[in-house]
Amino acid sequence: MPSTVLLGAQWGDEGKGKITDLISSDYDYVVRYQGGNNAGHTVIHGDTKLALHLIPSGVMYDHITPVIGNGCVVDPKVLTEEMQMLEGEGFSCENLRISCDAHVIMPYHIDLDGASERHLGKHEIGTTKRGIGPAYEDKAGRTGIRIQDLLDEKIFREKLEAALAIKNQVLTKIYGLEPYAVDQICEMYLPYAEVIRPHMAETAQLLNQELRAGKNILFEGAQGTLLDIDHGTYPFVTSSSCCAGGAPTGSGVGPKAINKVLGIAKAYITRVGSGPFPTELKDEVGERLCKVGGEYGVTTGRKRRCGWFDAVVSRYAADVNSLTDMALTKLDVLSCVDRIKVCVAYEADGKRYDYFPMQHSVLYPKHVTPIYEELPGWEGQDISDCKTFEDLPANAQRYVKYLEEVTGVPASIIAVGPERNQTIFHGWESR
Ligand code: GDP
Ligand code: IMO
Ligand code: MG
Repeated sequence: MPSTVLLGAQWGDEGKGKITDLISSDYDYVVRYQGGNNAGHTVIHGDTKLALHLIPSGVMYDHITPVIGNGCVVDPKVLTEEMQMLEGEGFSCENLRISCDAHVIMPYHIDLDGASERHLGKHEIGTTKRGIGPAYEDKAGRTGIRIQDLLDEKIFREKLEAALAIKNQVLTKIYGLEPYAVDQICEMYLPYAEVIRPHMAETAQLLNQELRAGKNILFEGAQGTLLDIDHGTYPFVTSSSCCAGGAPTGSGVGPKAINKVLGIAKAYITRVGSGPFPTELKDEVGERLCKVGGEYGVTTGRKRRCGWFDAVVSRYAADVNSLTDMALTKLDVLSCVDRIKVCVAYEADGKRYDYFPMQHSVLYPKHVTPIYEELPGWEGQDISDCKTFEDLPANAQRYVKYLEEVTGVPASIIAVGPERNQTIFHGWESR
C-alpha cells in the first residue's frame, strides 16, 4: 500500500500545490487531512493557474479522487464557490468526497477569529481570519457541527440552537458584535447542504477499502511543520496537526499505510503572520527575495517575510515528520543573490543550539543569533530551464548537496520555476 504524506517543512507556502499536482499521476487519491481555507495552494496546469484553498490539488486529474478528510474544517460557502470555479475552468468535481466527520466553519467562527485578533492587538497571531481557530476550538470542546449534522436539518437546528446560546453571549457581551438567529444561519447554510450531499462519504472506510485494493494515496498537507498546533512555534501557529502524524488522525488511515514522507522546503524560507523567525532578513536582500520570489500570500495577499534557509528548522521537520525525502522549491529565485547563507545552528545567551530550542523565547531577535555558513551563489544565471541536476551551475549543485548534508534528507525533487516542467527529478520514487 504505497502512500505518501506531502507536507510543508517550514512555515507554509513552500510550493505544496505545485508538487502535489506534479506527482499526482502516481496516485489514485489525494487527501487533505487538516486545515481549511486558510491554505492557498497554487497549481499551474497547462495555461491555467489556480489557487486552491480547500479542494485537494489533485482535482485536475480525471483519474484522481480528491478527498477532504475528517481532520479538515469546511466553510461550505468557500467549498461551493471553489467547486463552481473549478467546474468553470473545465475540471469536474464529481468525484470529490467529503468526510461526514469534517467540521463546519460557521459564520460566528469567522466573526470570533477577527474579534479575538483585534482583542490581541499588537500580540495578534496574524491569522487568515477564516474562522479556523474558533472552528477547531469547538471541535475540541465537543460543541462543533459536522458535515453530517449540516445534512440533517433537524439535528442542524438543534446543534445550532445550543451553540448560539453561548456564541451570541460571547459575540454581544464580550466583543460588542451582532448576534445570530437560528433561522438566519439555516437560510444561509441549508442550500449548501444540498451541494455537499452527493459528495459526503465515510471517507475513512473508503480509503481503507481502497488501500486494500492496492490503490495509492497522496496526503496533501496544508500550512507547515512550524505552524503545527503541537510542534510549531506556539501560539503563532494554526489550530491543526499539519505534521505527518496528522495524516492518520485526519483521514482514518493507520500509520503503517504510509511509506514515504515528502517535506516541501523552499531554498530560502518565508513566513506570513506573526511569530519568531530567526533567519528573517529585514534588509535589501530580504526585499529582493520577496520581489523575485513573488512572495505574497495566496489567501490574504499579505507580504511574506523572507529569510535564509534554516537547517535547524529543517532537521527538526525531518525528525517530527520522519521525512524520507525533501522537495526543494524556488531554487531559481536564489539567482538574484551573489552569496547565499544557510543557518546551521543558533547562538542565544551564550549557548549554542544545534537542535530546535525547547523554549521558544530563545527564537526571538532579543536572544537569538543565527550561525551561518556562507556559500557562493550563481548570481545572474537563469536556471529555470534546467532539466537535470547536471544542467545546474556548479554552485547550485553544491548548494543542494550542502542542504542535503545539513538536513540529512535527500532533495529528491528540485523545483526551478512554478510550471510543472520546471522540475528536476533527483531520485524521487513514489514507492
Ligand atoms: P503552497 O501553499 O505550499 O502550495 O505554496 P503557495 O502556492 O502558497 O506559494 C508558492 C508559490 O511559489 C506559488 O506562487 C507557486 O506558483 C510558486 N512556485 C512553486 N515552486 C516554484 C519554483 O520552483 N520557482 C518559482 N519561481 N516559483 C515557484
Ligand atoms: P498553505 O497551506 C502560510 C498562518 C497565518 C497565521 C497562522 C494562523 O498555503 O501553506 P490561521 O488562519 O490558520 O488560524 O492562521 O498560520 N497560515 C499560513 N501561513 N501558509 C498557509 O497555508 C497558512 N495557513 C495559515 O498566516 O500566521
Ligand atoms: Mg500557500
